Amino acid sequence: MPPLRIGIVGAGIMGDMHGRVFARQSDCQLAAVCDLALEKAQTLAGKLGAPAAFASCEAMRAATPLDVVSICTPDSVHAAPAASRASRWTARSASPASWRRSTAPSTPAGR
Ligand SMILES: NC(=O)c1ccc[n+]([C@@H]2O[C@H](COP(=O)([O-])OP(=O)(O)OC[C@H]3O[C@@H](n4cnc5c(N)ncnc54)[C@H](O)[C@@H]3O)[C@@H](O)[C@H]2O)c1
Repeated sequence: MPPLRIGIVGAGIMGDMHGRVFARQSDCQLAAVCDLALEKAQTLAGKLGAPAAFASCEAMRAATPLDVVSICTPDSVHAAPAASRASRWTARSASPASWRRSTAPSTPAGR
């Protein structure tokens, strides 16, 4: 089975940590990093060997098929990347992309 293609949204402290963990897994391939600050995305992608960096999750989604998206943005901006994921992130239609962050700061907003 080919490695899971991983995308990191947010190249801050947690994006760096998640990216380093994914980069060590033999069954994962760090495919792309995005951050509103493109330079941060490029720096983290270069550090971890990801082949692509983007300034928005929409651009990343459009350019790169992904199996897993790790949303590492501040709490108040979890919802938009999560909504992008819901519309179409996945490279494998049979296995939906997953995340390990709350989708929004409150349950009503997450719905
Ligand atoms: N830092 C910690 O020790 C820690 C621990 C546990 C949980 N968390 C959680 O992890 C999340 C991220 O925290 P952090 O400390 O890494 O924050 P951070 O400020 O270091 O990094 C967040 C990054 O997200 C980017 N960003 C913001 N909006 C974006 C968007 N729409 N698309 C793409 N990139 C965007 C910012 O430019 C920034 O580089 C938060 O929900 C925080 O509560 C952090």
